[in-house]
Amino acid sequence: MTSGVPAIRFEDVWKVYRMGKIEFPALRGVTLSIESGDFVAIVGPSGSGKSTLLHIAGALDKPTRGRVLIDGIDVSVLNDAELSRLRNRTIGFVFQAYNLIPRLTAKQNVELPLMLRGVPPGEREELAAKMLELVGLSSKLNNKPTELSGGEQQRVAIARAVVTNPKILLCDEPTGNLDSKSAEDVMNVIKDINKRYGSTVVVVTHNMEIAESARRVIRLKDGMVYEGA
Ligand SMILES: Nc1ncnc2c1ncn2[C@@H]1O[C@H](COP(=O)(O)OP(=O)(O)O)[C@@H](O)[C@H]1O
Ligand SMILES: [Mg+2]
Repeated sequence: MTSGVPAIRFEDVWKVYRMGKIEFPALRGVTLSIESGDFVAIVGPSGSGKSTLLHIAGALDKPTRGRVLIDGIDVSVLNDAELSRLRNRTIGFVFQAYNLIPRLTAKQNVELPLMLRGVPPGEREELAAKMLELVGLSSKLNNKPTELSGGEQQRVAIARAVVTNPKILLCDEPTGNLDSKSAEDVMNVIKDINKRYGSTVVVVTHNMEIAESARRVIRLKDGMVYEGA
C-alpha cells in the first residue's frame, strides 16, 4: 500500500501443459497487477485457469512463458532455496480441501509453519493459540481435524496460512466445500485478516456473493483475463 510495488505482477504469462504430444494452454498471455493490501476475487468457469494462475502467483508453479514478479521480485531468477524461502515468508496458501494433518491437533497444525522456521516451542504455541482465537476457535485448540466441522477445519487452515504473517494470502475456492453459513464465517475471517494485517488477499471463487464483497474482481475465460486486469 505504501511502496507502490505491486504485490503480484504478471506480464504476458503463459502456461502450457504438455501431455505426451498434446499441448494445452491453460493461461494465454495474462497481464495483471495486484496492489499490495488489495482484496481481489478471481472468477471464471471451471477449467478457465484460475488454479493455474493462483499456483503461479504463489510460486508453486512456473510459467511456460512471461514474467511473474512477487513483491517486485522476478521469481524466475530465484533458485530453489530462495523460492522456498519466498513461499514460507511471503505467501500463505488456503486450498478447497483443507489439507490439515489428521493426527495433529488444531494448534499443532497451526504451529507447523512456525516449526519450519525454527520458532521455539513456547512462542510457537502462543502464536498458534492467538491465531486460532482470531479465527474463532479458541475452544478447539486440542481437537483433531476429524473432530471439527468443515468450516472449522478451513478456519484452522487459514490460521495456519497466516500465522507466519505472510504479505500475500492466496485462497483457492476456500468455501467450495462449505454450507452457506460456514462459507460466510470463513470469508469474514479472510476479510478480517486483510483489514487487520493489510495482507494482500486473492480469492478464487465460484460464489458470486464472495466475489461481490471483494474490492476488485478479475474474470478469467479460456486462460485469458477478459475483465478487471
Ligand atoms: N497438471 C496439468 N496437466 C494438464 N492439464 C492441466 C493440468 N492442470 C490443469 N490442467 C488443465 O488446464 C486447464 C485449467 O485448469 P485450472 O487452472 O485447474 O482451472 P480452474 O481452476 O479454473 O478450474 C484445465 O483445462 C485443466 O484440465
Ligand atoms: Mg481450480
